[in-house]
Amino acid sequence: MNKTKMQETFYRIFGEGGDLIAAFAPGRVNLIGEHTDYNGGEVFPCALTIGTTAIARVRSDGMLHFYSDNFPDVGVMTSSLDDLIYTEEANWTNYPKGMIWAMKQNGYRLDQGLDFFLSGNIPAGAGLSSSASVEVVTGVILREVLKRTRGLGEDLTNQDLALMGKQVENDYCGLNSGIMDQFVIAMGKEDCAIRLNTADLSYAYAPLHMEGVQIVIGNTNKPHKLGDSAYNTRREECEKALRILQEKTQISHLCELTPEAFEAVQDALTEDVLLRRARHAVTENDRVARAVTALEAGEVETFGKLMNEAHASIRDDFEASCLELDTLVDLSQNCIGCLGSRMTGGGWGGCNVSLVRTDAVEAFCKTVGDGYRQAIGYDATFYIVEAGEGARLLSLD
Ligand code: GLA
Repeated sequence: MNKTKMQETFYRIFGEGGDLIAAFAPGRVNLIGEHTDYNGGEVFPCALTIGTTAIARVRSDGMLHFYSDNFPDVGVMTSSLDDLIYTEEANWTNYPKGMIWAMKQNGYRLDQGLDFFLSGNIPAGAGLSSSASVEVVTGVILREVLKRTRGLGEDLTNQDLALMGKQVENDYCGLNSGIMDQFVIAMGKEDCAIRLNTADLSYAYAPLHMEGVQIVIGNTNKPHKLGDSAYNTRREECEKALRILQEKTQISHLCELTPEAFEAVQDALTEDVLLRRARHAVTENDRVARAVTALEAGEVETFGKLMNEAHASIRDDFEASCLELDTLVDLSQNCIGCLGSRMTGGGWGGCNVSLVRTDAVEAFCKTVGDGYRQAIGYDATFYIVEAGEGARLLSLD
């Protein structure tokens, strides 16, 4: 929905008048470095050009009125600043409510209610971080509201908003996710991926100069909801493996180990599951470094091969894939013009990401799409994407 249409809808739902504040936050795709962000490792995601747009207006009664044209059937949902508790029924509004809660926890208490309208074009449940996008776009709106109403929030950086978004996932929604999604959504840069060290949040932008190669996302259309998945269990397994290895070597995160250092201590992991989980974290972290080096040297083929290796590792060692993802990845990897392919995001459904030669993209989507339909019984969806800019305020003029 374009901005004018959104504004019209806003007025139709909430009534005319008042000052509107608008903001946008993208979705993200992770190119390599999966399940390393809670193991002190590196990730290499980029922001997308699709995302979530929000428009808000201050209310004087302390009430929160939410409406999203992605969920028109639920209509306007209401809550208040005195009632910021997570509830199942609050549905998608838990994310903006959670951000208001996180702001308060961090000393940025909102004292005015809001009319809040959201419109997004990130496919829901696809693992492209629609929820982190809602958190961060809400953060941008709230920072502006606080500046205007309380003279607060001038010091809040986009990185701070990302950290609050993570706090919402962890402490409000109960998903022990890492910082990757919110960070790249808040900090993304056009035509660049971000190499982020999740142990200390140091980062560098890497231009995605891939002459003649496109990033293609394939959606399995198998919805995934990480809250219901084994995500938290994987995190616990990694933490358990870390505690065992800490008896052998001085580390604070699994990803501090190089593959060689890991080999030297891996015998301590007598439980096969823990050995495999830790091995994935360590080797995946090493793959990020090699992939970024390859990209910088213009060796896109090497980057693609590392993506293939990353998929095998997440499938066999980390067990965060599923039949639909493996099918889509296999078909992609075997298609002419594809340099590499892997699942992306949390796993157990959602999307894969592939690097495909530009002149082969059309045939790629057709061949892989046909094969997927035949094997799984329903369609996959493909998106040819560009790396976009991170979260920002929008002008409505
Ligand atoms: C989800 C989480 C991220 C990260 C990925 C896996 O997207 O939100 O923090 O752990 O899964 O890499």
